[in-house]
Amino acid sequence: MAILDPTQLIRADLSDFPPYSMGHVPLADLDHLVKLDLNENPYGASPKAIAALAQMRHYHRYIGQDELRADIARYVGVDADHVVASNGADEIIDLVQRVFINRGDAIVDCPPSFEMYAFFARVNGARIISVPRRDDFSIDVEMIESVIASEAKQSPTRGSEIVSSRDPSTPLRSAQDALLAMTKLLFLTRPNNPDGGITAHADIERLLALPVILVLDEAYAEFAGESYAARVPTQSNLIVLRTFSKWAGLASLRVGYCIAPKVVAAKILQIKPPENVNAAGIVAARASLADRDYLMDNVRRIVAERERLSGELAQVGFLQPLPSHANFLLCRVINRDAKAIQTALAQRDILIRAFKSPRLSDYIRIAVGTPEQDAVLLSALGNL
Ligand SMILES: Cc1ncc(COP(=O)(O)O)c(C=O)c1O
Repeated sequence: MAILDPTQLIRADLSDFPPYSMGHVPLADLDHLVKLDLNENPYGASPKAIAALAQMRHYHRYIGQDELRADIARYVGVDADHVVASNGADEIIDLVQRVFINRGDAIVDCPPSFEMYAFFARVNGARIISVPRRDDFSIDVEMIESVIASEAKQSPTRGSEIVSSRDPSTPLRSAQDALLAMTKLLFLTRPNNPDGGITAHADIERLLALPVILVLDEAYAEFAGESYAARVPTQSNLIVLRTFSKWAGLASLRVGYCIAPKVVAAKILQIKPPENVNAAGIVAARASLADRDYLMDNVRRIVAERERLSGELAQVGFLQPLPSHANFLLCRVINRDAKAIQTALAQRDILIRAFKSPRLSDYIRIAVGTPEQDAVLLSALGNL
């Protein structure tokens, strides 16, 4: 009998797939770590969400997301037909791409930014057109406009980088594929991760005028206090992504959602796994929306602490924090090695983020903790 080698059947374009590593720590370590590396909420979930999880009697049933969609719709002020909930915002990034991306189609990404747009583009066989942010992390609107215009004519623009996620020697399935290949999705994070900056309204209007779908990732919207969600019903090329991971402290329960044009939301509902949001996530997210005042008090505390922490970090002597509209601070490291700072803090049980990419090699990112956690961080930084 012939022995089947499964590697020969695995997609060739996945052969050099770069893994996405979050650096998870064992559950047992979470109690003693000062964990400021993944932009989590230091105050945790609402006690009412925790109580609702304990009281839930139906974990043995398959549960749908319609009640959650209705609650989210009321929260953001749109009709429920615009809303689809997902297993974290991560999953909705994948689902949106699956709805739009044919082999050879392109997404536009503006790095440095959240890396999952490019990650899922690779999984979904999309081309990634990379339009890097400027030195101050603002987006290059002119470059985005020109790559989208020139892509329409099939000629890449100078300055932008086209990263093909498929092996260039692999032909498109048919000549028709090549003819139909289009730039379809423009991903933009607002506020941006890792810097916390917020794209100006005038720039958003220019992007909305382009012949692509603007996928606006508002994972940190509650900290910024503004959102484009209510615009979706009157803007046919806008999809807004949100999550309960940050403001509601539900990162590990994995509840995200999108607000999309009704036809798009209907298509996502049609292709997604039926119970993509689990019952615990649904129960906790609904209880969080019902306990919004408590959670938004925590958001306000984090925002106030962000401003205080930023001032303190600027005093450390080798850090320059950037202005942020989110729950984290990107700091430029002056005359020191960013990785060495991360390692030295980790030895003291304090986790912060340093970056592999050359563009961010002189930066560290610190999530805003409680005042007590931030005091531990500041004292450690003072002793480095
Ligand atoms: C900009 C951005 N979008 C989406 C996510 C993912 O959110 P979720 O936990 O809902 O998958 C994150 C998480 O850090 C993020 O920073």
